[in-house]
Amino acid sequence: MVDATFNFPRGFLWGSATSSHQVEGNISGNNWALWEQEPGRILEGQRAGLANDWWGGRWKEDFDRAAESGQNAHRLSLEWSRIQPTPDRWDEGVLDVYREMLRGLDERGMTPMVTLHHFTDPLWVEEAGGWDNPQVVEWFGAYAAKVGEALKGYVNLWCTINEPNVVVSLAYLLGVHPPGRQDVGQGFRVMANQVLAHATAYRAIHAVQPEARVGPVINYRSLVPRRPWWPLDRTATWMQRRLYNDFFVDALQTGKLNYLYKQISAPEVKGTMDFLGINYYTRQEIYFDFGSAATAFTNQRFHPEAELSPNGFIANVPEGFFEALKWGYRKGVPLIVTENGVEDAEDTLRPRYLAQHIHQLWRAVNFNYRIKGYFHWTLVDNFEWDRGWTQRFGLWALDEETQMRTRRRSADFYAAICQQNALTSAQVREYAPEVFDRLFPV
Ligand code: FCB
Repeated sequence: MVDATFNFPRGFLWGSATSSHQVEGNISGNNWALWEQEPGRILEGQRAGLANDWWGGRWKEDFDRAAESGQNAHRLSLEWSRIQPTPDRWDEGVLDVYREMLRGLDERGMTPMVTLHHFTDPLWVEEAGGWDNPQVVEWFGAYAAKVGEALKGYVNLWCTINEPNVVVSLAYLLGVHPPGRQDVGQGFRVMANQVLAHATAYRAIHAVQPEARVGPVINYRSLVPRRPWWPLDRTATWMQRRLYNDFFVDALQTGKLNYLYKQISAPEVKGTMDFLGINYYTRQEIYFDFGSAATAFTNQRFHPEAELSPNGFIANVPEGFFEALKWGYRKGVPLIVTENGVEDAEDTLRPRYLAQHIHQLWRAVNFNYRIKGYFHWTLVDNFEWDRGWTQRFGLWALDEETQMRTRRRSADFYAAICQQNALTSAQVREYAPEVFDRLFPV
């Protein structure tokens, strides 16, 4: 009988990831709170509302859950609109709350990772034109300087902007996130401002905390041409890879914003990346499509035989995760998996998704890809943006009405991985026997 252990390096970070708007509750001063009030914006008209009630103090019980399950790290985000509700006001009381949360992680033996920007903007930023206004670079820098100073004794690992590429594609090309634009020109301007704002924040944090480790978080999609023999599909795939996966990171490496049809020099952003945060969920097939003018005539789909999550949002393609890590390795800085997971209320797919993805992570670690940690998305079901509460990504289920949490089997599986700092044949036999032979072939 197979008895195998896939070990991870000592000190590997195992955690889960969350974001302010999705878990805190009672946020009224950001663009999402407003967006949620517009009819038709969120599936079934749902709202974040109380979310996971972290602002009411339930972060404590959730951190307990994470710590008791062997997680030694947690990634959370700060809510800019709470910290700086108006351009001329900083809320020290709010910073106290974040300090308390970070102390709470420390007391539980967990390493904090903090994201400055996870999709939400203060209303005053949105009203002034949001990320299309070049002044956002300065505003974001000032905000980073402020929180860097306030929290430097509590956190060492900083993510600047979460998934700038998702923001551009969902908020400025597809228009399903605020401000709901479908404007390629604007999207391109926002991409530049995001890179510049990242670099400004990077320097602001290093100015007050030289030993800090600061990096961006990119959503990596594994992209393959739908018809590999068809040049237009290949070109569309190449274009998406370059603009979606590479643009931001390459700018930080080279000091050039590469829009393919033109390049803009931005030498000041070069080298502002101590690590690269990678969020990986899925693989998509890309194809040329006359009907998709808003997205430069490219469209996407999942492989028709792919195994899909319950709402058809994610295809389970673990090889794409390895590809993401290989891509990250080539960028030359240490990597942290800042998000990975699957929506699955019944928790039937998640155990095997977890087993297969952690297996690929282990392979990549053994290729010496300098991977420092893995954060699962997410700890407890939370508010999933335009998809509201319809998608359940948690290791724990949440009843939003009662705030009751219920442990899913995947929480036990992930706890075993974290506690043993390894993926073992015994775990897979217990939690995901259907993929056992694939992970442990003899
Ligand atoms: C990512 C987001 C995160 C969550 C997951 C499912 O794109 O960063 O907030 O919504 O998707």
